[in-house]
Amino acid sequence: MGTEQQFKRITTKALNLLKQKGIKITALTAYDFITAKILDEAGIDLILVGDSLSNVFQGNDTTLPVTMDEMIYHTKAVTKGVSRAMVMVDMPFMSYQLGVDEGFRNAGRIMKETSASGVKLEGGERVAETVRKITEAGIPVMGHIGLTPQSIHVFGSYRERGRDKEEAKEILKDAKILEEAGAFALVLEKIPSSLAKQVTEMVKIPTVGIGAGLYCDGQILVSPDMLGLNVDFHPRFVRYYAHLADVVSNAVKKYIDDVRQTKFPTEEESY
Ligand code: KIV
Repeated sequence: MGTEQQFKRITTKALNLLKQKGIKITALTAYDFITAKILDEAGIDLILVGDSLSNVFQGNDTTLPVTMDEMIYHTKAVTKGVSRAMVMVDMPFMSYQLGVDEGFRNAGRIMKETSASGVKLEGGERVAETVRKITEAGIPVMGHIGLTPQSIHVFGSYRERGRDKEEAKEILKDAKILEEAGAFALVLEKIPSSLAKQVTEMVKIPTVGIGAGLYCDGQILVSPDMLGLNVDFHPRFVRYYAHLADVVSNAVKKYIDDVRQTKFPTEEESY
């Protein structure tokens, strides 16, 4: 079922209502105006300007290098293409880890400069005070727990989190702490679906999963992954909904042929 008729503009309240009604929340990432416009017009509920920008747009191995200025630059382009979806922005690595005030200032800067509707930050208990301060200032905050890619050098790999009892307990505790600190939603990344189900049933705020199974209140994927553009990266939680790398490659090959054989441009395509 679509949510287009029910909500003219997606807000934190709308997402909460979707959870209460058991209607799944749909979310994808975008980093540019044209993609954001297509996603929005197709009826997506939430667009995340993810720090995956660092991987899929900038070609880095991790999300660590992307900066505040770069996140703001891309978010400005995204928000111009969106009239309905809620646009959230990842706070990049080291924009909130230095302390509550630094995180608060940077969240405020994102809101002032981009027209986005809120920020997302990674971590549980250790970022709770920052989440509290940002939300108290009227800025919606999305939490992100489970596999948190900004901590890749602590984890040592991108394997799923929460498999063992201790880690699962910590994830449950972090979810509760983030809810109490004021987060309006949680991203659950790469955790067992049974654990995601427990979190989803425990908290009143919506959960949006990536590699976290079917029981979350919604799903998010990285757009270039699900569109089959980023074909070097294919973990099992990514389903291809298109094979755009092939489409683009074939179009470019056809263009090269046409230009070489003087089939492009024709009279009608000339002045
Ligand atoms: O950066 C990102 O794209 C994300 C999603 C994977 C949730 O955080």
